Amino acid sequence: MNTYLVSGAGSGIGKCVAHQIDSEGHSLILLGRNAANLQATLQDLPGKNHRVLIADIRNRSSLQAAAGQLNGAAIDGLIACSGVGGSNQWGEQDRWDDVVTTNLTGTYNFVHSFLPAIQASQANYKHIIVISSAMSKVGMPGYQALCASKAGLNGLIRSWAVEWASHRILVNGISPGWVATAMADQALDEIAAYMSTSREKAYEVAVQGVPLRKMSEPREIADLVSYLLKQLSMTGENIDINCGLSMQ
Ligand SMILES: NC(=O)c1ccc[n+]([C@@H]2O[C@H](COP(=O)([O-])OP(=O)(O)OC[C@H]3O[C@@H](n4cnc5c(N)ncnc54)[C@H](OP(=O)(O)O)[C@@H]3O)[C@@H](O)[C@H]2O)c1
Repeated sequence: MNTYLVSGAGSGIGKCVAHQIDSEGHSLILLGRNAANLQATLQDLPGKNHRVLIADIRNRSSLQAAAGQLNGAAIDGLIACSGVGGSNQWGEQDRWDDVVTTNLTGTYNFVHSFLPAIQASQANYKHIIVISSAMSKVGMPGYQALCASKAGLNGLIRSWAVEWASHRILVNGISPGWVATAMADQALDEIAAYMSTSREKAYEVAVQGVPLRKMSEPREIADLVSYLLKQLSMTGENIDINCGLSMQ
């Protein structure tokens, strides 16, 4: 049995990843800001050998306080699912700082805060998996902060993979396209508002440029996480799972 720390485990992809890891008999630490959501995930999990840590990944002291609560316990893998989506626009209401500080700097803070716990693991190989985005590889008008922050993550993944290979820490990314979660719903609402149309119509518009004409399910991303945690030969990779949206 291994121990895995999942950020963003209170909802969407992170919650689904937690269920997948639980179903494989491992122990989990669920991290996020929203205690009620994290407790709900904890209650839903069939396994009982899990715990919650509250932290805001934008805030290093908050993460370091959370890491301190481990009391030196080792972690065999980190899955960084925390992130924010949405558009941004230059001006007084610009969300640039929030999006970049959460997605890029926040993930950097999260991984480094728990690196000592990973290094304390006796596992032969340790894993760090970062949920990036197809937006890291394609341009999207109005989504500069999201595209830039996720592209930054891809560079971070490669740097960490090279830096920590000698410690047998494998670092890989997953770049989903549309995934049916609250974050995608929020984007559909933005499209619907912009086009003065319904969410159903916005869905059709959203998947128009997707060859398979659909969104992925969070379960599919969790399956890929599960595979990456088992394999021992890939590091510094960034796997596309996007119904054909971007092929590289
Ligand atoms: N859904 C998609 O279409 C899609 C596509 C590509 C990539 N992704 C990526 O997949 C990841 C998961 O997204 P999702 O779709 O599952 O959306 P989601 O349900 O909104 O999940 C995002 C999670 O991030 C956590 N979070 C946000 N800000 C945080 C902060 N400052 N500190 C700690 N945790 C924070 C939230 O938890 P708290 O509220 O508890 O803090 C929440 O559980 C994100 O990185 C997202 O960019 C999603």
